[in-house]
Amino acid sequence: MENRAILDRLMAAEKVEDVRAVLAECRQHPTVDLVPFGRLDNNRGAIEVASDPARSAIERVTNAHDAILEYEHDQHDGKPKSGSPREAAAHWLGVPMKGELSALGTGDRQRLAAETVVRLEEGEGWQSRLLTVIDRGTGIAPEQMEGTILSLNESNKIQKHYLAGTYGQGGSSTLVFSKYVLIASRAVGSDEIAFTVVWYQDLPADQYKTGRYVYLTRDGGLLTAKVEDGDPERGTVVRHFGYDLSGCTSSIGPKSLYGALQRVLFDPVAPIRFENRVHGWNRTIKGSRNALNGAVDDGDDGTAKGPEITTGSLRSTSLWGTTGRSASSIGSSPAN
Ligand SMILES: Nc1ncnc2c1ncn2[C@@H]1O[C@H](COP(=O)(O)OP(=O)(O)OP(=O)(O)O)[C@@H](O)[C@H]1O
Ligand SMILES: [Mg+2]
Repeated sequence: MENRAILDRLMAAEKVEDVRAVLAECRQHPTVDLVPFGRLDNNRGAIEVASDPARSAIERVTNAHDAILEYEHDQHDGKPKSGSPREAAAHWLGVPMKGELSALGTGDRQRLAAETVVRLEEGEGWQSRLLTVIDRGTGIAPEQMEGTILSLNESNKIQKHYLAGTYGQGGSSTLVFSKYVLIASRAVGSDEIAFTVVWYQDLPADQYKTGRYVYLTRDGGLLTAKVEDGDPERGTVVRHFGYDLSGCTSSIGPKSLYGALQRVLFDPVAPIRFENRVHGWNRTIKGSRNALNGAVDDGDDGTAKGPEITTGSLRSTSLWGTTGRSASSIGSSPAN
């Protein structure tokens, strides 16, 4: 199977079983290999530190926001100097320091939210959802993946005060709650999409005390596919198959993923778009603080389906099923 066909099948997969079938086929290929996550044979202890799947999911959101800020940082050549994610969002995303997300108009907030999408899909039920986090950030080049999103405790952001990440382990905390995690990314300016699948591999109990997390490689590196028309310009998608959200048995309220996102993201630097495909509605999440400060978006009263996916003339479908803000569209919209 060609890499593009593998990627397309993994992006279209909705069930754990679909992924398993693709992997079984892939692994018959002689140059396909498994590599331990973080290049550590004994990686289970470092990965399995989290106990709350909703909180871990938010680590992926934080990474998405960081990736968007990183993109803007590069676009602006790092100027003006930003000493915190909040300052960076003010300088480069147009989020006012005073009033923050509640000071943005509904249209601007919605457009910015389309850059970070959290999508909940049926999967196999509450204990085994399909949870996808998508960003239109800077993306990750194939040769960078092993040292970043597939690494443990690296110092990629330790000197970047404009980003939230610090420890090099937040994102990987979702692995323990997932059966398979597809990571795919297109770095800005690249004509390739790098991708892999991560999962927990049992090892023979007579030889090993414990298993380990592994990911797929081919020909000695990450899998790569040439981009096609309609593919996202840049950014990263992380699809968690079989994500255990058994604590989230409602669609809204304290026992829901939506409720947890609202609660934990009290005051995020950027809004996110939450697509609940299990119950058929979308919401713009801006954090409780901004909601208390009067930010109201479509569907917040709980009666409507929420904002539609199409945003003006931008493509409404793509490989990872999203649209994004066009360059510098914030602040220029008549939709406020
Ligand atoms: N969505 C993404 N887009 C681009 N790069 C990403 C993305 N998610 C993760 N990365 C890369 O992977 C690295 C590891 O992510 P991880 O969340 O584990 O650590 P961190 O963000 O550096 O620190 P922290 O543990 O404080 O979150 C990041 O430093 C970044 O380089
Ligand atoms: Mg992080």
